[in-house]
Amino acid sequence: MNILITGGAGFIGSNFIYYMLEKHPEDRIICIDKLTYAGNMSTLQEALKSPRFVFYKADICDREEIYRIFDSEKPGAVINFAAESHVDRSIEDPEIFLRTNIIGTEVLMDACRRYGNIRFHQISTDEVYGDLPLDRPDVFFTEETPLHASSPYSSSKASADLLVLAYFRTYGLPVTVSRCSNNYGPYHFPEKLIPLMIANALNDRPLPVYGEGKNVRDWLYVEDHCRAVDLIVRNGRPGEVYNVGGHNEMANIDIVKLILNKLGKPESLITFVEDRKGHDLRYAIDPSKIHGELGWLPETKFGDGLDRTIKWYLENRSWWEDIISGEYMDYYERMYGG
Ligand code: NAD
Ligand code: TYD
Repeated sequence: MNILITGGAGFIGSNFIYYMLEKHPEDRIICIDKLTYAGNMSTLQEALKSPRFVFYKADICDREEIYRIFDSEKPGAVINFAAESHVDRSIEDPEIFLRTNIIGTEVLMDACRRYGNIRFHQISTDEVYGDLPLDRPDVFFTEETPLHASSPYSSSKASADLLVLAYFRTYGLPVTVSRCSNNYGPYHFPEKLIPLMIANALNDRPLPVYGEGKNVRDWLYVEDHCRAVDLIVRNGRPGEVYNVGGHNEMANIDIVKLILNKLGKPESLITFVEDRKGHDLRYAIDPSKIHGELGWLPETKFGDGLDRTIKWYLENRSWWEDIISGEYMDYYERMYGG
């Protein structure tokens, strides 16, 4: 099958491409990416050597170009990873989030309708549910939890989810949606918590923790997410939403201390900075549906996944050092000052 993947030069999309090239030698992968600040061709260097991989630099909002690619490549399934994905940037400037995350999703689904009712999977996020209280560890997000997004990023993703489900009901487009918790692993852009803290610790720079660092995220190793998406695309029921997460809740400050400890760096590098506006307190996924229907369970323990991630950042210094320059550095100065 020809599988079209958008956002494949980013963190999760690229990990998914490598997962698929290895796991499914019968499939051909077509990648579309606009190569924004978050997309990096060097990430796809190995994939480009494969005769089963083809890359198009294109914007998912560019209807003409997207139709042209669908026309020539004839995908059998489309998986939409492309997005503006960083909450802090969405607070600074929401507009591009609405364009890419909502309009881009619409254009892709229109192409799916136009070229033969193509199977469409939307990569969404647990952030569409808003947040959970810190003092109720017994409460989790299920697929029935009402959408209650907090940030411009999460509301753009929630809007896209509604649109995707509307295309199922209105046009019968065979869609699925997955809502995953925070991922970590190789190729993670160093503006997000775990890679930023690893990069700063390795450079002996301050580690900026928002507020008191008590906010909780439910971390999943990226490969476990890739396996979940593969299962949903092949065996998931059209029209359904699947939550993906591994019951691995951690407070930010504990993760930061763990990273420093693993790297042998002092806790004095931790710097508490002004809290994020509207900062979600806690995310926690109930993955019973995907476990019950598709047999998915996370396989990587957090300690092992973090060791593998740190090892990757140590062995691939040039990948992230090249990124920590140019546009990203301007953003960093604006965000954290000095
Ligand atoms: P990322 O920012 O690392 O990558 C996004 C990719 O999309 C980049 O390669 C970028 O160039 C590309 N892109 C952006 N706008 C585009 C456009 N208009 N047209 C084509 N390509 C475009 O993001 P990520 O962390 O890999 O996230 C991928 C998806 O997973 C997103 O939809 C995100 O909402 C979702 N998600 C992420 C996490 C997480 O922890 N990172 C968790 C749950 C869900
Ligand atoms: P992030 O990686 O941006 O993911 P998300 O906000 O989508 O969950 O942030 C994860 C958590 O880490 C979140 O609670 C905000 C916090 N954080 C910091 O404390 N300092 C930082 O510099 C960053 C980027 C995040």
